[in-house]
Amino acid sequence: MSYTNILAEINQGILRITVNRPDKLNALNKETISELNSAFDAAEKDDAVRVIIVTGSGLKAFVAGADIAEFLNLNTEQGMGLSRTGHLLLNRIEACPKPVIAAVNGFALGGGLELAMACHIRIASDNAKVGLPEVTLGLIPGYGGTQRLTALVGKSKALEMIMTADMIDANEAKAIGLVSHVTTQQDLLGKCEEIANKIMLRSPVAVKHAIAAVNSVIDGRNGFEREIEEFGKCFESQDFVEGTKAFLEKRKPVFPGK
Ligand code: COA
Repeated sequence: MSYTNILAEINQGILRITVNRPDKLNALNKETISELNSAFDAAEKDDAVRVIIVTGSGLKAFVAGADIAEFLNLNTEQGMGLSRTGHLLLNRIEACPKPVIAAVNGFALGGGLELAMACHIRIASDNAKVGLPEVTLGLIPGYGGTQRLTALVGKSKALEMIMTADMIDANEAKAIGLVSHVTTQQDLLGKCEEIANKIMLRSPVAVKHAIAAVNSVIDGRNGFEREIEEFGKCFESQDFVEGTKAFLEKRKPVFPGK
């Protein structure tokens, strides 16, 4: 499938989705959101895709936010519609049964940080700057940022970042738990692929249930109950049979992914 605003390339089980509007610092306009939805639809159905990496084109930005040009002249109802469109995309990314890693290669601001926060793991390059600057525009974060940032870094730091609109650098983002690793820009995709390759050795079925259980932290469902449910479902899988058998036979498992 070919897109106008994103690139999608698969290599050895890893689908790399690149937001590709470098002259607008990869800002998310409506068309880009729709293409990201299509790319995730296709990725979820394609058995060849095991892990997804999301990144931005160029050396400057991951995604510098929602496209501010599309905000002009919106009324309350249209503003809510825009927000809902962003929520639908980011909620589906967070709920994706395959691991999604954000390679944050530069500015991740507003909707850009919100996109990165919807991914399951975030790795940043050392030039990255992240923040939720919406209050400088007289807005608040509208693509889930008030909820996901609070879940990731706690209420005090989240409110400080949202109310001051300050950008923080990659090392501070790591210190507060917003990203897991910081690399040079050159090493960024390699680090993401290293993590992806490690996850690909594990049971895809168990990974899927782990994502669903952990997501209860944010989706409002009772997380302990959800963990019980997802744990139980694992016992129906061939991966579970293979994983336990391989352990007892002192060999490495070969997971069928079912
Ligand atoms: N929406 C639309 N266009 C954007 C954008 C956004 N969120 N972020 C950057 N751009 C565009 C700029 O308008 C500019 O376009 P132009 O060349 O046609 O004028 C281009 O991308 C380059 O950005 P520029 O501002 O010239 O780069 P810079 O290096 O001087 O500044 C930033 C970089 C990220 C600090 C600055 O672009 C910025 O503050 N962007 C908006 C961030 C934001 O508020 N995001 C939250 C939105 S909810």
